[in-house]
Amino acid sequence: MKAITKNKRIKVIVNGREMEVYDNLTILQALLQEDVHIPHLCYDIRLERSNGNCGLCVVEVGEGDAKRDVKACQTPIQEGMVITTNSPKLKSYRKVRLEQILSDHNADCVAPCVMTCPANIDIQAYLRHAANGNFSAALQVIKDRNPFPVTCGRVCPHPCEAQCRRNLVDSPVAINHVKRFIADWDMAQEEPWLPKKKDYNDTRN
Ligand code: SF4
Ligand code: FES
Repeated sequence: MKAITKNKRIKVIVNGREMEVYDNLTILQALLQEDVHIPHLCYDIRLERSNGNCGLCVVEVGEGDAKRDVKACQTPIQEGMVITTNSPKLKSYRKVRLEQILSDHNADCVAPCVMTCPANIDIQAYLRHAANGNFSAALQVIKDRNPFPVTCGRVCPHPCEAQCRRNLVDSPVAINHVKRFIADWDMAQEEPWLPKKKDYNDTRN
């Protein structure tokens, strides 16, 4: 997201109401800043740009016969713009678009990093724990699939990073370094965490 504090404020009309927004942003960025909600799936406020694929952010710009549909995440905001973010037509368009997206997405997708990892470690889960400072939980997720994270954190060629979606934006998440850090943290503890061993005498398992 661009630093916006130095952008000048400009006047636009949104849903019939005049308001001030920051200039030099897309319609989506500018209106989100002002708490005007526009549905969007392929843009996040932390990103510089979206890939413009989901199509949910479509808004109407202009008035009367000059009204046209634009993607809010792709269209720069301009002084005096008249923008409609919500109308029966937009609502039904977004509904159809969402149905199209969901028609081949069963919400069962696995992150490409996990698919690529030969040990199939739940990378998203341990990155989340690590980001939250819960190193012990991160370590347990890693060791659930890989008993040698200290070694793998050094020798694994980390194919997961080559597949990381962040490559589409800038650079991959440093997955391997996070794993190594967590593994080293564990080894520095008085009692490194050991997964519970399976009792092979217990025939119920
Ligand atoms: S952003 Fe990268 S590390 Fe995170 S889940 Fe997606 S592919 Fe994996
Ligand atoms: S947010 Fe997805 S197309 Fe604009």
